[in-house]
Amino acid sequence: MTPLSQALLAWYAAEGRDLPWRHTTDPYAIWVSETMLQQTRVETMQPYYARWMARFPTIEALAASGIQDVLRIWEGLGYYRRAHHLHTAARRVAAAGSALPTTAAALRRLPGIGPYSAAAIAALAFGRDEIALDGNLRRVLSRLFDLEIDAESVEGEARLLEAAHAHLPPGRAGAFNQALMDLGAMVCLPRQPACERCPLAAHCLARQQGTERLRPVRAGRPAPVEATAVAGVLRRNGRVLLAQRPAGKLLGGLWEFPGGKVEPGEAADAALRRELREELAVDVEVIDHV
Ligand code: ADE
Repeated sequence: MTPLSQALLAWYAAEGRDLPWRHTTDPYAIWVSETMLQQTRVETMQPYYARWMARFPTIEALAASGIQDVLRIWEGLGYYRRAHHLHTAARRVAAAGSALPTTAAALRRLPGIGPYSAAAIAALAFGRDEIALDGNLRRVLSRLFDLEIDAESVEGEARLLEAAHAHLPPGRAGAFNQALMDLGAMVCLPRQPACERCPLAAHCLARQQGTERLRPVRAGRPAPVEATAVAGVLRRNGRVLLAQRPAGKLLGGLWEFPGGKVEPGEAADAALRRELREELAVDVEVIDHV
């Protein structure tokens, strides 16, 4: 172990967060947790994780369930494609004997498992020497090694991985990755890094250079697209019309009050009538606004 990894793992043993999936070696449970954590904060996902594992305790249980049951448990977590992918992948794995692949390369062949999840599952569940590079790790590593290069570029990523691998103690990737995740969540914060209580302050090149707030370097991101949407509550004979969104598109397979995007310069009522005509071939009169 390098002095850096020694300090990191000692801190993790003493201060690391006590999280449910850290008490299991079940690759399925780790896969579920890492999938939920991709776009969702630890605090938010924990009740969902508990509900999911109670309802679908094994790959077989998940594979045997229908997608609507799966989506109901996922409901509220957002990025529903993750749930579709988990379900599809579980069916594939269950059909082949229910064992998840044990290397990052093989894990990546499953739907929904990208470089981050593959590395995280391989490291946490199978002890493989992988680095799971998410936003937190990019920030922590960019600061530790004071990398003045776009942390999301191909070259930046390669430099971060190389630097991290130089400190990864063989066979300890589960603890090493999660220690870095916790450091990023608790100490090496995006805006206000708490260097005074950082176990790695003595090893941190950005700290030595005073550049910690300038790391990670990020290329400009495109501005988010803004849109206004309208939806109709259509009633007839005491029933309300819900429509299922087309599979494979944004929020595919979910149910909604029918409607859609308001075009620039278009009035909301006109947009609603147009969308309902286009999507459902129904003509409506707007009676009331909610
Ligand atoms: N974020 C993503 N994976 C995590 C993990 N295993 N522990 C804590 N935070 C995480």
